[in-house]
Amino acid sequence: MDQLQIFSPATVANVSCGYDAMAFALESLGDEMTFRKNDSGQIRIVKIEGADLPYEPNKNVAAAVAQRMLQDAAADFGVDIEIVKKYKPGSGLGSSAASGAGAAFAINQLLNNRYTKLEQLKYAMFGEEVACGSQIADNVAAALYGGFVLIRSYEPLDIVSIPTPADLYVTVIHPQIEIKTEDARNILPKEIPMRTAVFQWANVGGLISGLHTADYELIGRSLTDHVVEPYRKKLIPHFDALKSAAMDHGALGAGISGSGPSVFALVKGEETADKIAAAFDKVYKNSEIEYRIYTSGIAKTGVTLRNK
Ligand code: HSE
Repeated sequence: MDQLQIFSPATVANVSCGYDAMAFALESLGDEMTFRKNDSGQIRIVKIEGADLPYEPNKNVAAAVAQRMLQDAAADFGVDIEIVKKYKPGSGLGSSAASGAGAAFAINQLLNNRYTKLEQLKYAMFGEEVACGSQIADNVAAALYGGFVLIRSYEPLDIVSIPTPADLYVTVIHPQIEIKTEDARNILPKEIPMRTAVFQWANVGGLISGLHTADYELIGRSLTDHVVEPYRKKLIPHFDALKSAAMDHGALGAGISGSGPSVFALVKGEETADKIAAAFDKVYKNSEIEYRIYTSGIAKTGVTLRNK
């Protein structure tokens, strides 16, 4: 295979209670990327559409991941990369993760499946370091594996795929302001009280159990965040109004997507997802801030080949 086109999904990390430990992938929002072998031995970003991202191979997440994978494999070819972004970086929807996971998946294909999925994930995590200075696994794991994932351990890296109830949908509003992940991480406390920790891990357990048993009410009750949301919500205009609007219109729960500013609501049924979209729209339509609203199913698979 000398060329491939892929779809790399947007992701919602943390899922309220699971800071750095849980995430899921969206079915109908993500990046389109093309990877083409070249004889120059160089990684070249030849096209970027939809976002103002660096072309330099050491600064561009997809290129940095590709470069490292090809170097480690002592590959005798280079790769030209085209990136079409469907949503802006700094959204809290795993934009850098979509690039990194997409590159890890595609380069592995061009290397005839040399790497395991976990190895691909580690390369994609290196991409997260290029993007925000930390090797966070949640968004990249969801983008690569699809569905819901639990990062049970970082050392050693242990990813657990969690089943997705058939009727689970998500509505996301993306206010078009940028929050840098690094900044959103720096405002968090370094330690939390034991009582808060107990609330949080109880909810993670509830969420995992609810996803396994398709207990939508339990999923909803578990979408509670005592650790991160109180600090980060101040960065998101109208966060409380968005959350109330979601809950008033039948959401199971709502919270900050990744490091924000996007806000997500998990719902049962596509119809309710549309109702929440309308409710989000009502909250934002008179504000000065531009925004996009998406509804989506949960992606059953991670990065997928387009040119099968
Ligand atoms: N878990 C990460 C965070 C996701 O919330 O900072 C952003 O990459």
